[in-house]
Amino acid sequence: MIIQTEEELRGIQEISNIVAITVKKMRGYARIGMTTKELDDFGADVLKKYGANSAPFVTYKFPGWTCISINNEMAHGIPSSRVLKEGDLVNIDVSAELNGFYSDSGASFVLGEDINKKQALVDASIEALHKAISTIRSGIKISEVGRTIERIAKGKGYKVIKNLGGHGVGKCLHEEPDCILNYCDRHDRRRFRKNSVVAIETFLATDSTLVDTAIDGWTLVGNKGGLCVQHEHTVLVTSDKPVILTAKNGI
Ligand code: CO
Ligand code: CO
Repeated sequence: MIIQTEEELRGIQEISNIVAITVKKMRGYARIGMTTKELDDFGADVLKKYGANSAPFVTYKFPGWTCISINNEMAHGIPSSRVLKEGDLVNIDVSAELNGFYSDSGASFVLGEDINKKQALVDASIEALHKAISTIRSGIKISEVGRTIERIAKGKGYKVIKNLGGHGVGKCLHEEPDCILNYCDRHDRRRFRKNSVVAIETFLATDSTLVDTAIDGWTLVGNKGGLCVQHEHTVLVTSDKPVILTAKNGI
């Protein structure tokens, strides 16, 4: 969406705070031995307390309140009886709606001790996200985001997933501009617009360059296995530094 009034700015900031706080609280609540359904139930309680609705549920009838994806899963993991283990790479992606405004934020983290040495991948993704966001201004090419993310990922020996991307957000979960990719598409001539709201997300992997849909019909899994991480902020584009609306998620 393009923010046109103070009221719209307040609305998008309010749901962005809720989404960010939910990501942070869920991360703090995650424990070894807990199921992903238990973690999702906790996230659902946080969202309900604020009166917010699950965006993937209201938009796509996703079978859960939040998306929880583990290790080789890149996105859209369904909360289930799967038990979290020491050293799992956990991704929590929360998108929600309140009063007609939508926001979207996600974070990957290593649960417990980093026994499988996954933290470097997480750190690369966070760095890529923040560097990419810092390039955004009104009038800058959308493909600059992908150029930055891919440069940082490759510099550290990782790959980017080519068939996922960030997106506009605000009045719906997924809006124009779609396909804010993790690599530079030279043919993409689109530019960021002042006062637009966009979800910027990284999709880094150790081995995979694409995701496939698993047999559950939802979970997106790396095509070559390995590990996948994602970090996501909802951002307000200005003519100067962008405003990270979901900064309260702590990443
Ligand atoms: Co998301
Ligand atoms: Co998103």
